[in-house]
Amino acid sequence: MTQNTIKTNTGTNTKTAKAREAEARNIYIVDHRVGIEDRWVRTGHRGGVLWLTGLSGSGKSTLALGVEQALHQLGYQAYVLDGDNVRAGLNKDLGFSPQERSENIRRIAEVAALFAQSGTLAVTAFISPYREDRDMARDIIGDGFHEVFIDAALGVCERRDPKGLYKRARAGEIPEFTGISAPYEAPAKPDLVIDTGRLDIEASVHRVLDHVESHFTLVDTRLRVA
Ligand code: ADX
Repeated sequence: MTQNTIKTNTGTNTKTAKAREAEARNIYIVDHRVGIEDRWVRTGHRGGVLWLTGLSGSGKSTLALGVEQALHQLGYQAYVLDGDNVRAGLNKDLGFSPQERSENIRRIAEVAALFAQSGTLAVTAFISPYREDRDMARDIIGDGFHEVFIDAALGVCERRDPKGLYKRARAGEIPEFTGISAPYEAPAKPDLVIDTGRLDIEASVHRVLDHVESHFTLVDTRLRVA
């Protein structure tokens, strides 16, 4: 079985909806010759995506970078995709309307899915304020998607205001600013919640590392994983 086929309950392999849609546009998805499980055995962990979501100033980037560093030191293959960085390049054509945020999340989810398929643990740090968009990301990424809610109250984020953006948003200088003039829809059933209003960065990183160890680390790399 390959990435672009799924096994039905009758045991036959069938093409994924994505592969079928692509073929309707004369696009034929190729399959890698290196299997995903072989990649996992090489690193000792599954690939996947830790999807951090939360307000601006909630600590997503700081936590993501701390987790990336700690994972790297522990021998994991991990990489941070951060909102401001991605918006400086790949998504520099996108603003902050609901439609543009949705396209921002769609592209990031596709990129994060590629990282996951390469065996990497992608740690994404995007506000991703709309539930529907995060559900789209979950659909694109599949099994390895773990939603991590960076749960800091608006008041906490506004007091921190590391980039001075809340002050400017309150002054009406930044339109559609999340938490002020645009909504943030908190996750209903996140896989992990980190309350950065109460936990310091070290404790927050440890919480995420524990989660990674119990969900992504292979216990015995000699065995084929389920
Ligand atoms: S998202 O809503 O589309 O997920 P994303 O995480 O990529 O947002 O980008 C958020 C970053 O863009 C913030 O950290 C902030 O520095 C900057 N930013 C600029 N304008 C806005 C805005 N109107 N709302 C939120 N963040 C903004």
